[in-house]
Amino acid sequence: MDTRTSVSPDGTIYPLPAEEDYQAELARIERLVEQAREKGQEVVVVMGLGFVGAVMAAIVADTTDEGGSPSKFVIGMQRPSKRSYWKIPLLNKGISPVKAEDPEVDPMIARCVLEKKSLVATYVYDVLCFADCVIVDVQLDYAKNELGNVRNGSVEMSALEESFDVIAHRIKADCMVLIETTVAPGTTEQVALPAMRKIFRQRGITSEPLLAHSYERVMPGRDYVASIRDFWRVCSGVNEEAKRRVVAFLNEVLNTKEFPLTCLDRPIESETAKVMENSYRATILAFLDEWSLFAERNGVDITKVIKAIKMRPTHSNIMFPGPGIGGYCLPKDGGLGIWGSKHILGFDDETFKITPLAIDINDTRSLHAAQLVRDALRNMNIPVASARVLLLGASYREDVGDTRNSGSEIMARRLTEMGVEIRVHDPYVDRWWELESQDDYPSHSKAVFFRNQERLKDLLVLKDLDEALEGIQALVLAVRHEQYLDLDPDAIVARAGQPIAVIDCFGILDDAKIRRYFELGCEVKGLGRGHVKRIKDQVRGSGL
Ligand SMILES: NC(=O)c1ccc[n+]([C@@H]2O[C@H](COP(=O)([O-])OP(=O)(O)OC[C@H]3O[C@@H](n4cnc5c(N)ncnc54)[C@H](O)[C@@H]3O)[C@@H](O)[C@H]2O)c1
Repeated sequence: MDTRTSVSPDGTIYPLPAEEDYQAELARIERLVEQAREKGQEVVVVMGLGFVGAVMAAIVADTTDEGGSPSKFVIGMQRPSKRSYWKIPLLNKGISPVKAEDPEVDPMIARCVLEKKSLVATYVYDVLCFADCVIVDVQLDYAKNELGNVRNGSVEMSALEESFDVIAHRIKADCMVLIETTVAPGTTEQVALPAMRKIFRQRGITSEPLLAHSYERVMPGRDYVASIRDFWRVCSGVNEEAKRRVVAFLNEVLNTKEFPLTCLDRPIESETAKVMENSYRATILAFLDEWSLFAERNGVDITKVIKAIKMRPTHSNIMFPGPGIGGYCLPKDGGLGIWGSKHILGFDDETFKITPLAIDINDTRSLHAAQLVRDALRNMNIPVASARVLLLGASYREDVGDTRNSGSEIMARRLTEMGVEIRVHDPYVDRWWELESQDDYPSHSKAVFFRNQERLKDLLVLKDLDEALEGIQALVLAVRHEQYLDLDPDAIVARAGQPIAVIDCFGILDDAKIRRYFELGCEVKGLGRGHVKRIKDQVRGSGL
């Protein structure tokens, strides 16, 4: 494989920049900065053009002054890695590097790049010297060495530490640095500040770095833009000036009139707020796992029980977890807290009990879903090894194409290990990177937790549902994508060409559909859906 190129998801090959390209690229950006300064625009560098940075950059670039003219000039800065370089040429054409279901994303990026000319992307770190404000949106991964044991893992600080280093060597003394990356509590004041201060002193700068923290609550999906711009924010700064600057900046670029800002005293409080709010959510979801299993074993339909409980306003956020908790944040954020408590703040005790347990439960919940597939097939006298199973949905939540840490991935891996001939369909996912690239980033791949994973890297995500259904023996409803909510049992069985096992992982089937599948000779099982047995007995004439 050519290591000097970067391939975008649509297959376009971009050569990586060569050493001699850097000067010309810096000069190009410098000219644009001069034009921006003439227009009185503030220069903002967004570091990291991923799910958060690409859209945040566009939101800042879309900001206007009272006269309606762009008030910020934004330089999206992305390291020219093989994995990510393609985002730069794509964004410079006005095309979003992130696939979004939100119809606001594509036109906003096109508008800022092509019409307002307030957004540009580059790979040159030296553009940091132009910045009045730097926003850090690089990733901070938590590597788990075991499946279902978050304590056995560590925070991969290298990308973030490299960013602090690169920034401190280049920025102006009065540039405000806003860390949006989700970090372990203590990082801003105890990792970033001393590191940057040291470099400032080497550069002869006597003032303190103006470091601030404000975390993202972005939800890539239909409300992607609104979840950044029209949403409540929490922030803080390492000193009064940093706090003043971050409050002023966020008031300018976000809709804080309708969604007021909360400014906390110290960055460790803002950092804690982020990992704690996601640990809280992970915990509520994990709590449902044991009751879901109880329901399955005791004739209870968990979906109806949840609906009944939710009627009580104090319990309205109780949620059914489906086949696992994915996305980028919930599986790792609690881990950042646990790791930071030990490695940054120096507490080597058992402070955290509930948070790691919740993450471990969530990380392994889909293994049980795979068991249900095996059990349903066994009830039909079909051995799971070599059974043809179709997984409906690869992403981690409904109506998005984001597959990071999806329950479907664990299910696909476990079923493959069991010998299943797996197929997958997803209307939002074009390529399943976690499977396709499992050999490229082995230390990041969950493939290492399972056997016989080789063929998964060739698994194509099918787009034609009818074709995908042909000849299958089991159907797994894994994600609540709109397309899957009202599938007709008669049509499904007709396409399959025989009665099948149907495994409902997300409370998708209503009782009428479950009944119909049984009438068609199918077997049905579902996470938390103990009442299917009752329906089965009624249909088969033994439970009346
Ligand atoms: N994705 C979400 O839904 C979400 C929600 C809330 C918060 N967050 C947090 O936001 C942060 C960013 O997440 P993301 O989803 O955008 O990650 P991502 O992996 O999609 O993007 C990070 C980008 O930063 C780039 N990068 C890394 N090091 C760099 C460097 N030194 N210089 C320039 N670019 C560099 C990477 O190449 C990548 O393009 C994380 O801390 C995450 O926890 C994410």
